[in-house]
Amino acid sequence: MTDNGMVERRPHIILNMAQSINGYISGKDGERVQISSDLDSKRVLDLRNGVDAIMIGGNTLKTDNPFLKSDNCRFRIVLKSDGILDMDSNVFKSAGTVIIVNESKEKTHGNTTWISAGKPVDLKIAMNKIYSMGIRRVLLEGGKKTAMNFLRGRMVDEMYLFIGNIFIEEGGIKMLDNSKRTKEVIVNAEIMDGGILLRLNPEKIGEAL
Ligand SMILES: NC(=O)c1ccc[n+]([C@@H]2O[C@H](COP(=O)([O-])OP(=O)(O)OC[C@H]3O[C@@H](n4cnc5c(N)ncnc54)[C@H](OP(=O)(O)O)[C@@H]3O)[C@@H](O)[C@H]2O)c1
Repeated sequence: MTDNGMVERRPHIILNMAQSINGYISGKDGERVQISSDLDSKRVLDLRNGVDAIMIGGNTLKTDNPFLKSDNCRFRIVLKSDGILDMDSNVFKSAGTVIIVNESKEKTHGNTTWISAGKPVDLKIAMNKIYSMGIRRVLLEGGKKTAMNFLRGRMVDEMYLFIGNIFIEEGGIKMLDNSKRTKEVIVNAEIMDGGILLRLNPEKIGEAL
Protein backbone atom coordinates (compact mmCIF):
# COMPACT_ATOMS: atom_id res chain seq x y z
CA MET A 1 0.00 0.00 0.00
CA THR A 2 1.39 3.46 -0.87
CA ASP A 3 1.10 6.67 1.22
CA ASN A 4 -2.10 7.66 -0.60
CA GLY A 5 -3.72 4.28 0.01
CA MET A 6 -3.17 2.98 -3.52
CA VAL A 7 -2.58 -0.78 -3.77
CA GLU A 8 0.96 -1.23 -5.10
CA ARG A 9 0.46 -3.32 -8.17
CA ARG A 10 2.74 -2.93 -11.13
CA PRO A 11 3.86 -4.90 -14.16
CA HIS A 12 7.03 -7.00 -14.25
CA ILE A 13 9.71 -4.59 -15.47
CA ILE A 14 12.74 -5.64 -17.50
CA LEU A 15 15.47 -3.07 -18.02
CA ASN A 16 17.71 -3.47 -21.04
CA MET A 17 20.54 -1.08 -21.91
CA ALA A 18 23.78 -1.09 -23.89
CA GLN A 19 27.01 0.66 -23.03
CA SER A 20 30.52 0.99 -24.42
CA ILE A 21 33.52 -0.61 -22.72
CA ASN A 22 34.26 2.76 -21.11
CA GLY A 23 30.72 3.06 -19.77
CA TYR A 24 28.96 5.37 -22.21
CA ILE A 25 25.39 4.81 -23.38
CA SER A 26 25.53 7.65 -25.91
CA GLY A 27 27.99 9.87 -27.71
CA LYS A 28 28.79 13.55 -27.21
CA ASP A 29 25.73 15.70 -26.44
CA GLY A 30 23.54 12.59 -26.25
CA GLU A 31 24.15 11.58 -29.86
CA ARG A 32 22.84 8.08 -30.58
CA VAL A 33 25.57 5.47 -31.06
CA GLN A 34 24.96 1.92 -32.34
CA ILE A 35 26.38 -0.15 -29.47
CA SER A 36 24.42 -3.37 -29.95
CA SER A 37 25.71 -5.95 -32.44
CA ASP A 38 23.35 -7.61 -34.93
CA LEU A 39 23.04 -10.60 -32.60
CA ASP A 40 22.28 -8.37 -29.63
CA SER A 41 19.64 -6.50 -31.63
CA LYS A 42 18.02 -9.87 -32.34
CA ARG A 43 18.05 -10.61 -28.58
CA VAL A 44 16.39 -7.25 -27.90
CA LEU A 45 13.73 -8.00 -30.52
CA ASP A 46 13.01 -11.29 -28.72
CA LEU A 47 12.67 -9.36 -25.44
CA ARG A 48 10.28 -6.90 -27.11
CA ASN A 49 8.21 -9.73 -28.51
CA GLY A 50 7.77 -11.12 -25.00
CA VAL A 51 6.30 -7.99 -23.35
CA ASP A 52 3.05 -6.03 -23.49
CA ALA A 53 4.76 -2.63 -23.58
CA ILE A 54 8.10 -1.02 -24.45
CA MET A 55 8.92 2.10 -22.42
CA ILE A 56 11.37 5.00 -22.89
CA GLY A 57 12.00 8.45 -21.42
CA GLY A 58 11.11 11.65 -23.25
CA ASN A 59 14.73 12.54 -24.03
CA THR A 60 15.34 9.21 -25.74
CA LEU A 61 12.31 9.79 -27.92
CA LYS A 62 13.70 13.19 -28.87
CA THR A 63 17.35 12.26 -29.48
CA ASP A 64 17.03 8.71 -30.87
CA ASN A 65 13.53 8.86 -32.36
CA PRO A 66 13.31 5.04 -32.16
CA PHE A 67 10.66 2.94 -33.91
CA LEU A 68 10.69 0.41 -31.02
CA LYS A 69 9.80 -2.30 -33.52
CA SER A 70 8.29 -5.56 -32.39
CA ASP A 71 6.31 -8.30 -34.07
CA ASN A 72 3.51 -8.28 -31.54
CA CYS A 73 4.01 -5.82 -28.66
CA ARG A 74 0.79 -3.78 -28.31
CA PHE A 75 1.90 -0.70 -26.35
CA ARG A 76 4.70 1.88 -26.35
CA ILE A 77 5.05 4.07 -23.23
CA VAL A 78 6.82 7.45 -23.15
CA LEU A 79 7.45 9.50 -19.98
CA LYS A 80 7.05 13.22 -20.60
CA SER A 81 5.92 15.61 -17.84
CA ASP A 82 4.08 18.09 -20.05
CA GLY A 83 2.63 15.34 -22.26
CA ILE A 84 3.78 17.12 -25.41
CA LEU A 85 5.58 14.93 -27.96
CA ASP A 86 6.34 15.43 -31.63
CA MET A 87 3.46 13.47 -33.13
CA ASP A 88 5.58 12.77 -36.23
CA SER A 89 7.97 10.70 -34.07
CA ASN A 90 8.62 7.17 -35.28
CA VAL A 91 7.07 5.63 -32.17
CA PHE A 92 3.64 6.70 -33.47
CA LYS A 93 4.22 4.65 -36.63
CA SER A 94 3.88 1.38 -34.68
CA ALA A 95 0.63 -0.54 -35.01
CA GLY A 96 -0.19 -0.36 -31.30
CA THR A 97 -1.20 2.26 -28.76
CA VAL A 98 1.21 4.92 -27.48
CA ILE A 99 0.74 5.82 -23.82
CA ILE A 100 2.17 9.17 -22.75
CA VAL A 101 2.76 9.32 -18.99
CA ASN A 102 2.53 12.95 -17.93
CA GLU A 103 1.60 15.19 -15.00
CA SER A 104 -2.00 16.14 -15.72
CA LYS A 105 -3.55 15.10 -19.06
CA GLU A 106 -5.96 12.15 -19.14
CA LYS A 107 -7.36 11.65 -22.62
CA THR A 108 -7.34 9.41 -25.67
CA HIS A 109 -6.98 10.59 -29.22
CA GLY A 110 -6.83 7.88 -31.89
CA ASN A 111 -4.10 5.42 -30.90
CA THR A 112 -2.59 7.75 -28.30
CA THR A 113 -3.58 7.76 -24.62
CA TRP A 114 -2.35 10.25 -22.02
CA ILE A 115 -2.30 9.13 -18.38
CA SER A 116 -1.56 11.46 -15.49
CA ALA A 117 0.72 10.29 -12.70
CA GLY A 118 1.22 13.23 -10.33
CA LYS A 119 3.44 16.27 -10.31
CA PRO A 120 6.32 15.49 -10.68
CA VAL A 121 5.53 12.22 -12.43
CA ASP A 122 5.37 9.46 -9.79
CA LEU A 123 6.53 6.16 -11.27
CA LYS A 124 4.56 4.08 -8.76
CA ILE A 125 1.31 5.81 -9.71
CA ALA A 126 2.23 5.52 -13.39
CA MET A 127 2.95 1.79 -13.20
CA ASN A 128 -0.20 1.18 -11.14
CA LYS A 129 -2.27 2.78 -13.90
CA ILE A 130 -0.38 0.87 -16.57
CA TYR A 131 -1.16 -2.36 -14.68
CA SER A 132 -4.85 -1.39 -14.56
CA MET A 133 -4.75 -1.20 -18.35
CA GLY A 134 -3.94 -4.93 -18.44
CA ILE A 135 -0.21 -4.44 -19.08
CA ARG A 136 1.69 -7.13 -17.17
CA ARG A 137 5.19 -7.06 -18.68
CA VAL A 138 7.17 -3.94 -19.62
CA LEU A 139 10.56 -3.64 -21.31
CA LEU A 140 12.30 -0.43 -20.26
CA GLU A 141 14.87 0.70 -22.83
CA GLY A 142 16.23 3.83 -21.17
CA GLY A 143 17.61 6.44 -21.25
CA LYS A 144 19.68 7.16 -18.21
CA LYS A 145 17.32 9.28 -16.08
CA THR A 146 14.44 6.90 -16.58
CA ALA A 147 16.54 3.80 -15.87
CA MET A 148 18.08 5.39 -12.75
CA ASN A 149 14.70 6.39 -11.35
CA PHE A 150 13.25 2.91 -11.82
CA LEU A 151 16.36 1.31 -10.28
CA ARG A 152 16.45 3.70 -7.31
CA GLY A 153 12.75 3.09 -6.76
CA ARG A 154 13.41 -0.70 -6.75
CA MET A 155 10.98 -1.10 -9.60
CA VAL A 156 13.13 -3.25 -11.89
CA ASP A 157 12.75 -7.04 -11.82
CA GLU A 158 15.28 -8.10 -14.46
CA MET A 159 18.23 -6.14 -15.81
CA TYR A 160 20.40 -6.73 -18.87
CA LEU A 161 23.42 -4.68 -19.85
CA PHE A 162 25.12 -5.35 -23.16
CA ILE A 163 28.72 -4.14 -23.21
CA GLY A 164 29.54 -3.51 -26.84
CA ASN A 165 32.96 -4.01 -28.38
CA ILE A 166 33.44 -0.26 -28.70
CA PHE A 167 34.98 2.75 -26.99
CA ILE A 168 33.02 6.01 -27.11
CA GLU A 169 34.78 9.35 -26.90
CA GLU A 170 34.51 11.41 -23.69
CA GLY A 171 31.54 13.74 -23.40
CA GLY A 172 28.69 11.30 -23.73
CA ILE A 173 26.27 10.02 -21.10
CA LYS A 174 27.53 7.42 -18.61
CA MET A 175 24.88 5.27 -17.06
CA LEU A 176 26.26 3.81 -13.84
CA ASP A 177 28.28 6.78 -12.59
CA ASN A 178 28.02 8.20 -9.05
CA SER A 179 27.74 4.68 -7.69
CA LYS A 180 28.51 3.46 -4.17
CA ARG A 181 30.78 0.47 -3.64
CA THR A 182 28.60 -2.62 -4.07
CA LYS A 183 29.64 -6.23 -4.63
CA GLU A 184 28.07 -9.23 -6.34
CA VAL A 185 26.02 -7.36 -8.88
CA ILE A 186 26.44 -9.81 -11.78
CA VAL A 187 23.98 -12.68 -12.03
CA ASN A 188 25.29 -14.04 -15.33
CA ALA A 189 27.76 -13.12 -18.06
CA GLU A 190 27.80 -14.34 -21.61
CA ILE A 191 30.29 -13.56 -24.35
CA MET A 192 28.42 -13.09 -27.59
CA ASP A 193 29.11 -11.75 -31.05
CA GLY A 194 30.04 -8.07 -30.70
CA GLY A 195 30.26 -7.83 -26.93
CA ILE A 196 29.36 -9.23 -23.53
CA LEU A 197 25.86 -9.60 -22.16
CA LEU A 198 25.56 -9.10 -18.42
CA ARG A 199 22.51 -10.03 -16.42
CA LEU A 200 22.67 -7.83 -13.33
CA ASN A 201 20.90 -7.89 -9.98
CA PRO A 202 18.63 -4.81 -10.11
CA GLU A 203 18.22 -4.74 -6.32
CA LYS A 204 22.01 -4.50 -5.89
CA ILE A 205 22.32 -1.88 -8.64
CA GLY A 206 19.57 0.11 -6.92
CA GLU A 207 21.62 -0.04 -3.69
CA ALA A 208 24.71 1.16 -5.56
CA LEU A 209 23.08 4.26 -7.02
N1 LIG B 1 22.64 2.76 -24.86
C1 LIG B 1 21.40 2.58 -24.49
O1 LIG B 1 21.01 1.46 -24.10
C2 LIG B 1 20.44 3.72 -24.53
C3 LIG B 1 19.07 3.46 -24.46
C4 LIG B 1 18.19 4.56 -24.48
C5 LIG B 1 18.68 5.84 -24.55
N2 LIG B 1 20.01 6.05 -24.61
C6 LIG B 1 20.55 7.41 -24.64
O2 LIG B 1 20.12 8.06 -23.45
C7 LIG B 1 20.02 9.45 -23.69
C8 LIG B 1 18.74 9.98 -23.06
O3 LIG B 1 18.78 9.72 -21.67
P1 LIG B 1 18.33 10.82 -20.63
O4 LIG B 1 18.77 10.39 -19.28
O5 LIG B 1 18.78 12.15 -21.10
O6 LIG B 1 16.76 10.86 -20.74
P2 LIG B 1 15.57 9.78 -20.73
O7 LIG B 1 15.70 8.88 -19.57
O8 LIG B 1 15.43 9.19 -22.09
O9 LIG B 1 14.32 10.73 -20.53
C9 LIG B 1 14.22 11.46 -19.32
C10 LIG B 1 13.06 12.40 -19.39
O10 LIG B 1 11.83 11.69 -19.22
C11 LIG B 1 10.92 12.54 -18.56
N3 LIG B 1 10.35 11.99 -17.33
C12 LIG B 1 9.13 12.25 -16.85
N4 LIG B 1 8.93 11.62 -15.70
C13 LIG B 1 10.06 10.98 -15.41
C14 LIG B 1 10.44 10.20 -14.30
N5 LIG B 1 9.64 9.94 -13.27
N6 LIG B 1 11.68 9.70 -14.30
C15 LIG B 1 12.51 9.94 -15.33
N7 LIG B 1 12.19 10.69 -16.41
C16 LIG B 1 10.96 11.22 -16.44
C17 LIG B 1 11.69 13.80 -18.19
O11 LIG B 1 11.45 14.77 -19.20
P3 LIG B 1 10.43 15.97 -18.94
O12 LIG B 1 10.96 16.75 -17.79
O13 LIG B 1 10.40 16.69 -20.22
O14 LIG B 1 9.18 15.30 -18.59
C18 LIG B 1 13.12 13.39 -18.28
O15 LIG B 1 13.98 14.45 -18.57
C19 LIG B 1 20.10 9.66 -25.19
O16 LIG B 1 21.37 10.19 -25.49
C20 LIG B 1 19.99 8.25 -25.76
O17 LIG B 1 20.75 8.12 -26.94
C21 LIG B 1 20.91 5.03 -24.61
